[in-house]
Amino acid sequence: MGIEKVGVVGCGLMGAGIAEVCARAGLETVVREVNDDFLSSGLERINRSLQKAVKKGKTSEEDRDATLGRITGTTDLGELNDCDLIVEAIVESLEEKCRLFAELDKSAKETTIFASNTSSLTITQIAMATERTGRFIGLHFFNPVPVMKLVEIVRTLMTDDEVIDDTRQFVEAIGKAPVLCRDNSGFIVNRLLVPYLLDAIRAYEEGVGTVEDIDRAMQLGCGHPMGPLTLLDFVGLDTTYYIANIMFEEYREKRFAPPPLLKQMVLAGRFGRKSGRGFYDYGS
Ligand code: CAA
Ligand code: NAD
Repeated sequence: MGIEKVGVVGCGLMGAGIAEVCARAGLETVVREVNDDFLSSGLERINRSLQKAVKKGKTSEEDRDATLGRITGTTDLGELNDCDLIVEAIVESLEEKCRLFAELDKSAKETTIFASNTSSLTITQIAMATERTGRFIGLHFFNPVPVMKLVEIVRTLMTDDEVIDDTRQFVEAIGKAPVLCRDNSGFIVNRLLVPYLLDAIRAYEEGVGTVEDIDRAMQLGCGHPMGPLTLLDFVGLDTTYYIANIMFEEYREKRFAPPPLLKQMVLAGRFGRKSGRGFYDYGS
């Protein structure tokens, strides 16, 4: 496998979870954020998640401490240069992701595999910002990362076969289940899930039901663990808005277009759980 040290760029909702599961699997993990404030809140997020795992009997206090001992936080991108794999989980912006990987490409060791956790950009678009398109892949984790088993492995026309093998072994080594996907916007899950989530907002705009009743109906009627509007708050309305715009750009079909209400909520700073208010009020 050859992946012993992992770099994670971005320690938000997803980056924190990716760093947590890598460290819990015994891998040395370096996580990078843009500044010390975001880094400390990201590391605190990991701490809280591990605390929850201990409380739920999913891990021991000793393993929690050992996991934390394998995580190094930094704001210096250079500290990721000797990683065998670097996964980015930064904002869903093609420009930002390309800028990041172009910078990493200059200093990371030649064998380092680059991976994006993007929800909706194509991996090809991002890989072309580097000189290592053969060692570039998509590793799409699901929220919350410590709990959701799936990782979508996304190869481009340029990805080397050995990189597929190495990343498949990595995904299994961190206790996840890999599914191999083509490099289309949204891969498998979001290609199906995003239209459903956007339709839930449209149904609410059309007055089909209240926020609570739309969620309750899908939980009780279809057995979903979370209704769509709760899930949107969980994923992040800002992230969902970026995803919808990218998928609409790719497919040019109304079902991927962000509903006007979603745009208004994002402009109003209502990002969901992460900002304390979305379709629901989280009081913080
Ligand atoms: N580490 C390990 N296990 C943990 C954990 C952690 N940090 N935190 C929680 N768990 C475990 C709990 O112990 C529990 O396990 P058991 O069922 O064995 O007891 C399980 O995870 C569920 O956790 P909770 O009981 O705390 O919470 P819950 O039952 O309310 O479930 C949820 C929470 C897992 C988020 C559930 O509501 C759910 O699955 N929601 C749907 C999430 C979803 O759809 N995710 C995909 C979003 S789309 C995406 O991610 C792609 C994209 O690009 C946007
Ligand atoms: P988030 O807003 O919670 O976190 C993004 C983090 O990236 C922020 O903390 C930000 O400070 C940091 N960041 C931005 N630029 C950076 C840089 N150059 N270097 C280091 N850190 C930087 O977003 P998120 O929900 O974690 O999503 C991150 C990525 O994962 C996006 O591409 C998103 O589409 C994808 N994704 C999200 C989910 C989800 O449910 N939220 C699920 C799967 C994939």
